[in-house]
Amino acid sequence: MSTAQNPIQIQGVSLESIAEEFGTPVYVYDGKKIVSQVKILQEAFSEVPLKIKYATKALSNVSVLKLMKKAGAGVDAVSIEEVQLGLLAGFEASEIMYTPSGVSFEEIQDAVNLGVMINLDSIPLMRQFGKEYGSSVPACIRINPHIMAGGNIKISVGHKASKFGISIEQLSEILEVVKEYDLKIEGLHLHTGSDILDAEVFLKGANVLFEAAFNFPDLRFIDCGGGFKVAYKPEDISTDIMEVGKKVSAAFQAFCKEYGRQLELWLEPGKFLVSECGLLLVKVNVVKKTPTITFAGVDSGLNHLIRPMLYDAYHGVYNLSNPSGPLETYHVVGYICETDTIASNRELNEVRAGDILVIKNAGAYGFSMASNYNSRLRPAEVLVWEGKAQLIRKRETFEDIISNQVIIDL
Ligand code: LLP
Repeated sequence: MSTAQNPIQIQGVSLESIAEEFGTPVYVYDGKKIVSQVKILQEAFSEVPLKIKYATKALSNVSVLKLMKKAGAGVDAVSIEEVQLGLLAGFEASEIMYTPSGVSFEEIQDAVNLGVMINLDSIPLMRQFGKEYGSSVPACIRINPHIMAGGNIKISVGHKASKFGISIEQLSEILEVVKEYDLKIEGLHLHTGSDILDAEVFLKGANVLFEAAFNFPDLRFIDCGGGFKVAYKPEDISTDIMEVGKKVSAAFQAFCKEYGRQLELWLEPGKFLVSECGLLLVKVNVVKKTPTITFAGVDSGLNHLIRPMLYDAYHGVYNLSNPSGPLETYHVVGYICETDTIASNRELNEVRAGDILVIKNAGAYGFSMASNYNSRLRPAEVLVWEGKAQLIRKRETFEDIISNQVIIDL
């Protein structure tokens, strides 16, 4: 039975038909859901001039980027390659925010030449940038606000020990460098991490930037990053986006009044926009019972979805092929030659070899973190848009695995 929790179709296209047409494993994205998430965010922040800079790293398929553009979002890129993907998708350079971490100065120069906004994340980089460009190229500064946010230290990046940004405690040094090189600082930025539930954390971060902002007369925007939490478990609560919108917007407007000019508010969500739109369809190769555990072994693994093994992340799973089968407890495991548990101790409708299992919340950091480990092929990607399932990335072939290998004579 198709429920909101366990859908059997997207926009009227059955998941079974997608698995049949495109094979498994396959990532499937609901384009309508992406657009509606963009709308929710726009509504929540309707009181301020909002610019959404979609965190490309979450799901970087160019067709998805094109959809983001259609929905009215811009792009947050963390590598020159993501900048190039954004341009390929049709974004103007001015719609792209480039937030690298510790890249070479050559890459910064390439990005400047492409015309995107550079987010400076260290004092040495500020100096180098200043020497090269002075006031001729406006830039943004990434501040580390020293806020421990979210529940998982691996994805919390705005705390004191994090490598990201420039410590707020170094503000006076930042200001000296700005003065020395006559830097034109048009934006202040922070990103405290992923899976942040509490509206107060967003507000706390924003306030750090507002306070610092009075030292920068040329500002055009304040960028509060991403990190809104979405529900992975059925009982999970997600960030109350309306509450964040209301609180941060009110504080932002009060700040702008004091600052003396209306600035733009920028946000960089990844998960919020694409986590729930994505499903990974996998096929069961084997059901293996041990004296204590029943394993459902599928044609995928940590090479396609690394989040469970890397972060102990929970992804919902259901059996598409046997929706009314009796409930039993399974460990859903991959085919990689390592401990490769996608989901443990899950009640699923009886799983049989050949069944299609659906792994939920697979849109964000699914395909984009996939690899060829064990020399396995990466899956196809399919976007359902206007009631039609379209291939947006071909399944890899063995040729892709060896295409860059130089096989020498020995
Ligand atoms: N802005 C910046 C500068 C970021 O580094 C990130 C994520 C975002 C925005 C978007 O964060 P989001 O809204 O998606 O939480 N791979 C991990 C998450 C690490 C994200 C890294 N940066 C995961 O699968 O949970």
